[in-house]
Amino acid sequence: MAVARGIDALIVQGPAAGGHRATFDPAAPPCDAPLLQLLTAICVDADVPVVASGGLATADDIARVLAAGAVAAQLGTAFLLADEAGTHPTHRAALRDAAFAETVVTRAFTGRYARALRNRFVDRYGMQAPFGFPQIGLVTAPLQSAAGEADDPHAMALWRRDLQKSDVIYRGAQHLHTENLDAGYFRIRPAGLGTAMTYRVMCSTYGNGELPSAALEFQSVPQSRELS
Ligand SMILES: Cc1cc2nc3c(=O)[nH]c(=O)nc-3n(C[C@H](O)[C@H](O)[C@H](O)COP(=O)(O)O)c2cc1C
Repeated sequence: MAVARGIDALIVQGPAAGGHRATFDPAAPPCDAPLLQLLTAICVDADVPVVASGGLATADDIARVLAAGAVAAQLGTAFLLADEAGTHPTHRAALRDAAFAETVVTRAFTGRYARALRNRFVDRYGMQAPFGFPQIGLVTAPLQSAAGEADDPHAMALWRRDLQKSDVIYRGAQHLHTENLDAGYFRIRPAGLGTAMTYRVMCSTYGNGELPSAALEFQSVPQSRELS
Protein backbone atom coordinates (compact mmCIF):
# COMPACT_ATOMS: atom_id res chain seq x y z
CA MET A 1 0.00 0.00 0.00
CA ALA A 2 2.77 2.44 0.97
CA VAL A 3 4.83 1.62 -2.12
CA ALA A 4 1.80 2.19 -4.32
CA ARG A 5 1.54 5.67 -2.86
CA GLY A 6 5.04 6.48 -4.01
CA ILE A 7 7.13 6.26 -0.86
CA ASP A 8 10.91 6.04 -1.35
CA ALA A 9 11.72 3.56 1.43
CA LEU A 10 10.04 1.38 4.02
CA ILE A 11 10.83 1.08 7.71
CA VAL A 12 9.73 -2.32 8.97
CA GLN A 13 9.24 -2.30 12.73
CA GLY A 14 9.13 -5.56 14.70
CA PRO A 15 7.15 -6.17 17.89
CA ALA A 16 10.09 -5.79 20.31
CA ALA A 17 10.48 -2.08 19.45
CA GLY A 18 10.63 0.47 22.21
CA GLY A 19 8.24 3.40 22.01
CA HIS A 20 5.27 3.67 19.70
CA ARG A 21 4.26 0.77 17.53
CA ALA A 22 3.83 1.42 13.85
CA THR A 23 0.20 0.67 12.99
CA PHE A 24 -2.28 1.73 10.35
CA ASP A 25 -5.19 1.41 12.76
CA PRO A 26 -4.25 2.98 16.10
CA ALA A 27 -6.98 1.09 17.94
CA ALA A 28 -6.01 -2.35 16.63
CA PRO A 29 -3.61 -4.47 18.68
CA PRO A 30 -0.22 -4.16 16.97
CA CYS A 31 1.06 -7.04 14.87
CA ASP A 32 3.26 -9.45 16.83
CA ALA A 33 4.89 -11.25 13.91
CA PRO A 34 8.67 -11.47 14.51
CA LEU A 35 10.83 -8.90 12.75
CA LEU A 36 12.73 -11.43 10.61
CA GLN A 37 9.46 -12.95 9.43
CA LEU A 38 8.13 -9.52 8.48
CA LEU A 39 11.33 -8.63 6.67
CA THR A 40 11.40 -11.85 4.71
CA ALA A 41 7.80 -11.36 3.62
CA ILE A 42 8.19 -7.69 2.73
CA CYS A 43 11.63 -7.74 1.09
CA VAL A 44 10.50 -10.33 -1.45
CA ASP A 45 8.14 -7.89 -3.13
CA ALA A 46 9.32 -4.44 -2.13
CA ASP A 47 11.35 -2.67 -4.79
CA VAL A 48 12.26 0.16 -2.41
CA PRO A 49 14.97 0.08 0.28
CA VAL A 50 13.82 -1.51 3.52
CA VAL A 51 15.12 -0.40 6.94
CA ALA A 52 14.72 -2.87 9.81
CA SER A 53 13.78 -1.71 13.27
CA GLY A 54 12.72 -3.07 16.63
CA GLY A 55 14.71 -4.94 19.24
CA LEU A 56 18.09 -4.54 17.54
CA ALA A 57 21.14 -3.94 19.70
CA THR A 58 24.20 -5.91 18.62
CA ALA A 59 26.24 -6.45 15.48
CA ASP A 60 24.72 -9.93 15.19
CA ASP A 61 21.22 -8.48 15.30
CA ILE A 62 22.13 -6.10 12.51
CA ALA A 63 23.83 -8.79 10.44
CA ARG A 64 20.66 -10.90 10.66
CA VAL A 65 18.38 -8.16 9.36
CA LEU A 66 20.81 -7.27 6.56
CA ALA A 67 20.86 -10.94 5.57
CA ALA A 68 17.07 -10.89 5.51
CA GLY A 69 17.10 -8.13 2.92
CA ALA A 70 17.20 -4.87 4.87
CA VAL A 71 19.59 -2.17 3.66
CA ALA A 72 19.99 -0.63 7.11
CA ALA A 73 19.00 -1.03 10.73
CA GLN A 74 17.39 1.56 12.94
CA LEU A 75 18.06 1.48 16.69
CA GLY A 76 16.30 3.45 19.39
CA THR A 77 16.56 1.87 22.83
CA ALA A 78 20.21 0.97 22.35
CA PHE A 79 21.07 4.66 22.50
CA LEU A 80 19.00 5.68 25.50
CA LEU A 81 21.94 5.47 27.89
CA ALA A 82 24.47 6.98 25.53
CA ASP A 83 26.04 10.22 26.75
CA GLU A 84 24.61 12.13 23.83
CA ALA A 85 21.02 10.99 24.39
CA GLY A 86 18.56 13.43 25.90
CA THR A 87 17.04 10.68 28.05
CA HIS A 88 15.62 12.06 31.28
CA PRO A 89 17.72 11.12 34.35
CA THR A 90 14.73 9.37 35.93
CA HIS A 91 14.25 7.34 32.75
CA ARG A 92 17.97 6.51 32.69
CA ALA A 93 17.88 5.31 36.28
CA ALA A 94 14.86 3.11 35.59
CA LEU A 95 16.62 1.52 32.59
CA ARG A 96 19.40 0.47 34.97
CA ASP A 97 17.06 -0.59 37.79
CA ALA A 98 16.46 -4.33 38.01
CA ALA A 99 13.17 -3.61 39.78
CA PHE A 100 11.77 -2.61 36.37
CA ALA A 101 11.77 -6.12 35.03
CA GLU A 102 9.06 -6.07 32.41
CA THR A 103 7.98 -4.08 29.39
CA VAL A 104 4.42 -3.77 28.19
CA VAL A 105 2.70 -2.38 25.14
CA THR A 106 0.37 0.24 26.54
CA ARG A 107 -1.76 3.18 25.43
CA ALA A 108 -1.70 4.67 28.93
CA PHE A 109 0.62 7.58 28.15
CA THR A 110 -0.40 8.78 24.70
CA GLY A 111 -3.58 7.00 23.68
CA ARG A 112 -1.65 4.89 21.22
CA TYR A 113 0.11 1.56 21.69
CA ALA A 114 3.77 1.90 22.68
CA ARG A 115 6.26 -0.30 24.52
CA ALA A 116 7.53 0.92 27.88
CA LEU A 117 8.80 -0.41 31.17
CA ARG A 118 5.87 -1.44 33.31
CA ASN A 119 5.28 1.03 36.15
CA ARG A 120 2.37 2.05 38.35
CA PHE A 121 0.97 4.45 35.74
CA VAL A 122 0.71 1.61 33.25
CA ASP A 123 -0.98 -0.64 35.80
CA ARG A 124 -3.48 2.02 36.72
CA TYR A 125 -4.33 3.52 33.35
CA GLY A 126 -3.34 0.92 30.79
CA MET A 127 -6.84 -0.48 30.45
CA GLN A 128 -8.66 2.81 31.07
CA ALA A 129 -6.94 5.24 28.73
CA PRO A 130 -9.00 6.01 25.63
CA PHE A 131 -7.51 5.69 22.18
CA GLY A 132 -6.66 9.22 21.15
CA PHE A 133 -3.18 9.99 19.89
CA PRO A 134 -1.75 12.54 20.34
CA GLN A 135 -4.39 14.13 22.57
CA ILE A 136 -3.96 11.70 25.48
CA GLY A 137 -0.25 12.45 25.32
CA LEU A 138 -1.00 16.14 25.69
CA VAL A 139 -3.18 15.37 28.69
CA THR A 140 -0.52 13.30 30.45
CA ALA A 141 2.40 15.55 29.48
CA PRO A 142 2.19 17.93 32.47
CA LEU A 143 1.91 15.00 34.84
CA GLN A 144 4.89 13.28 33.24
CA SER A 145 6.83 16.50 33.40
CA ALA A 146 6.05 16.86 37.11
CA ALA A 147 7.06 13.23 37.65
CA GLY A 148 10.40 14.01 36.07
CA GLU A 149 10.93 16.96 38.37
CA ALA A 150 10.00 14.78 41.35
CA ASP A 151 12.24 11.94 40.11
CA ASP A 152 9.25 9.59 40.16
CA PRO A 153 9.65 6.82 37.56
CA HIS A 154 6.11 5.58 38.16
CA ALA A 155 4.27 8.47 36.52
CA MET A 156 6.22 8.87 33.32
CA ALA A 157 6.64 6.89 30.11
CA LEU A 158 9.78 4.77 30.34
CA TRP A 159 10.04 3.80 26.68
CA ARG A 160 12.20 0.76 26.15
CA ARG A 161 12.52 -2.24 23.86
CA ASP A 162 11.43 -5.71 24.89
CA LEU A 163 13.53 -7.03 27.75
CA GLN A 164 14.09 -10.46 26.21
CA LYS A 165 17.78 -9.71 25.64
CA SER A 166 18.10 -7.20 28.40
CA ASP A 167 21.69 -7.87 29.38
CA VAL A 168 22.93 -7.51 25.83
CA ILE A 169 21.01 -4.32 25.24
CA TYR A 170 21.90 -2.88 28.57
CA ARG A 171 25.61 -3.43 28.24
CA GLY A 172 25.41 -2.41 24.63
CA ALA A 173 23.92 0.90 25.56
CA GLN A 174 26.60 1.45 28.18
CA HIS A 175 29.35 0.66 25.75
CA LEU A 176 28.14 2.74 22.88
CA HIS A 177 31.01 5.09 22.24
CA THR A 178 29.55 7.42 19.70
CA GLU A 179 32.84 9.15 19.21
CA ASN A 180 32.42 11.50 16.30
CA LEU A 181 34.93 11.04 13.53
CA ASP A 182 33.93 13.04 10.51
CA ALA A 183 31.30 13.12 7.79
CA GLY A 184 28.81 11.34 10.01
CA TYR A 185 31.05 8.43 10.94
CA PHE A 186 31.15 7.17 14.49
CA ARG A 187 33.22 4.57 16.28
CA ILE A 188 31.18 2.18 18.34
CA ARG A 189 32.18 -0.79 20.46
CA PRO A 190 29.02 -2.85 20.95
CA ALA A 191 28.65 -5.18 23.91
CA GLY A 192 30.24 -8.57 23.69
CA LEU A 193 32.50 -7.70 20.80
CA GLY A 194 36.26 -7.48 21.14
CA THR A 195 36.63 -5.13 18.24
CA ALA A 196 35.07 -1.80 17.61
CA MET A 197 33.37 -1.09 14.34
CA THR A 198 32.92 2.05 12.39
CA TYR A 199 29.39 2.98 11.48
CA ARG A 200 27.83 5.71 9.56
CA VAL A 201 25.11 7.14 11.74
CA MET A 202 22.24 9.07 10.32
CA CYS A 203 20.67 10.87 13.23
CA SER A 204 17.16 12.17 13.36
CA THR A 205 15.43 13.82 16.25
CA TYR A 206 11.87 13.54 17.37
CA GLY A 207 9.31 16.00 18.63
CA ASN A 208 11.00 18.46 20.91
CA GLY A 209 14.39 17.35 19.67
CA GLU A 210 15.47 15.88 22.97
CA LEU A 211 15.23 12.20 22.12
CA PRO A 212 17.59 11.23 19.37
CA SER A 213 17.19 8.07 17.43
CA ALA A 214 19.56 6.89 14.77
CA ALA A 215 19.81 4.55 11.89
CA LEU A 216 23.02 2.58 11.67
CA GLU A 217 24.31 1.57 8.33
CA PHE A 218 27.32 -0.65 7.81
CA GLN A 219 29.84 1.13 5.67
CA SER A 220 33.05 0.01 4.15
CA VAL A 221 35.56 2.38 5.71
CA PRO A 222 39.34 2.79 5.55
CA GLN A 223 41.21 0.65 8.05
CA SER A 224 42.71 3.75 9.62
CA ARG A 225 39.30 4.62 10.95
CA GLU A 226 38.98 1.42 12.97
CA LEU A 227 39.89 1.44 16.64
CA SER A 228 43.11 -0.37 17.35
C1 LIG B 1 12.64 6.72 23.77
C2 LIG B 1 12.04 6.42 22.43
C3 LIG B 1 11.31 7.41 21.78
C4 LIG B 1 10.73 7.15 20.54
N1 LIG B 1 10.02 8.14 19.92
C5 LIG B 1 9.51 7.91 18.69
C6 LIG B 1 8.83 8.96 18.01
O1 LIG B 1 8.67 10.08 18.51
N2 LIG B 1 8.34 8.70 16.78
C7 LIG B 1 8.50 7.47 16.18
O2 LIG B 1 8.07 7.30 15.04
N3 LIG B 1 9.13 6.46 16.81
C8 LIG B 1 9.64 6.65 18.04
N4 LIG B 1 10.28 5.64 18.69
C9 LIG B 1 10.38 4.31 18.04
C10 LIG B 1 11.61 4.22 17.15
O3 LIG B 1 11.39 4.97 15.97
C11 LIG B 1 11.93 2.77 16.75
O4 LIG B 1 10.84 2.19 16.07
C12 LIG B 1 12.27 1.89 17.90
O5 LIG B 1 13.01 2.58 18.86
C13 LIG B 1 13.07 0.71 17.43
O6 LIG B 1 13.14 -0.27 18.40
P1 LIG B 1 14.27 -0.36 19.54
O7 LIG B 1 13.91 0.67 20.54
O8 LIG B 1 14.09 -1.75 20.03
O9 LIG B 1 15.60 -0.10 18.89
C14 LIG B 1 10.87 5.87 19.94
C15 LIG B 1 11.60 4.89 20.61
C16 LIG B 1 12.18 5.14 21.84
C17 LIG B 1 12.96 4.04 22.52
